[in-house]
Amino acid sequence: GLVLGLEGTAWNLSAALFGEDLVALHSSPYVPPKGGIHPREAAQHHASVMKEVIGQVLTEPDRIRAIAFSQGPGLGPSLRTVATAARALSIALGVPLVGVNHCVAHVEIGRWATGFTDPIVLYASGANTQVFGYLNGRYRIFGETLDIGVGNALDKFARGHDLPHPGGPMIEKLAREGSYIELPYTVKGMDLAFSGLVSAAQESKAPLEDVCAGLQETAFAMCVEVTERALAHAGKDEVLLVGGVGANARLQEMLRIMCEERGASFAVPERTYLGDNGAMIAYTGKIMLEHGTTITLDESQIRPGYRADEVTVTWREDEPG
Ligand code: ATP
Ligand code: FE2
Repeated sequence: GLVLGLEGTAWNLSAALFGEDLVALHSSPYVPPKGGIHPREAAQHHASVMKEVIGQVLTEPDRIRAIAFSQGPGLGPSLRTVATAARALSIALGVPLVGVNHCVAHVEIGRWATGFTDPIVLYASGANTQVFGYLNGRYRIFGETLDIGVGNALDKFARGHDLPHPGGPMIEKLAREGSYIELPYTVKGMDLAFSGLVSAAQESKAPLEDVCAGLQETAFAMCVEVTERALAHAGKDEVLLVGGVGANARLQEMLRIMCEERGASFAVPERTYLGDNGAMIAYTGKIMLEHGTTITLDESQIRPGYRADEVTVTWREDEPG
């Protein structure tokens, strides 16, 4: 059987079918007119392309065993639009619903794509920056951002300099041509903060390339420090990088070097599975379904603040934690 997965927590509406492998994937990204996602406009986008996106993957309705959807965390209006479509499909096809935590789905598709079994995970995206590790039936959050995600920090800096949105790729390019300048580094305990760094970068009078190099190096060094400490603390030997910022070659290099020094392995999934995508929801929905973790319509309310450590991981019960 197949599981249809729907993702739409933020800017990307994406649907996928997962069987033994990925069968179909179709996405429709929302491109904000001038930087920054407006929650109601993103939801409006999702509603307007819903029929087309689902239609592209719904080729064999008779073989679908469940509808999985991202229940949270995310923007309320987008989550509501996606949940409504998922409920309608579940009723129409007479199959159960699976409510998937978006952050957990990043981890699971990452494990599937890389073959890693029990990694420390750095989830670095626009809205999120978190370090997870599996322990006793849950994904524990070892550290996370106290303000904005590392991707949004890069996007905010880019907006201030009229660079195209999203800012990450252009900052990466400029940083390669610049030399490092010192900017404020903020790690508090196991947590991170990026707003002070972005403000200082915005105000810097140094050449743009150098500010980009300093911004990137500082933000990524903070992420690597927390990941390294989680790795040492948890006694694991794999590091997995997920989320849209994971596309950055410098961040990958810094994590790879840290892992080599510690005798750990490092991996990053291929691009398709890095940023938000329907495949991660369909795949996680499939393994949850196989462990009987479905929800009723009453339990399908959206969860905008849903945290990874609230999820009881039913599908890894036989693994050491
Ligand atoms: P989430 O809901 O998980 O927070 P998201 O909506 O931020 O996800 P993603 O696709 O995971 O979506 O990540 C998008 C972010 O990735 C943007 O902030 C973008 O600037 C950043 N990004 C993309 N490519 C690069 C790159 N090469 N270097 C750095 N950042 C990048
Ligand atoms: Fe995400």
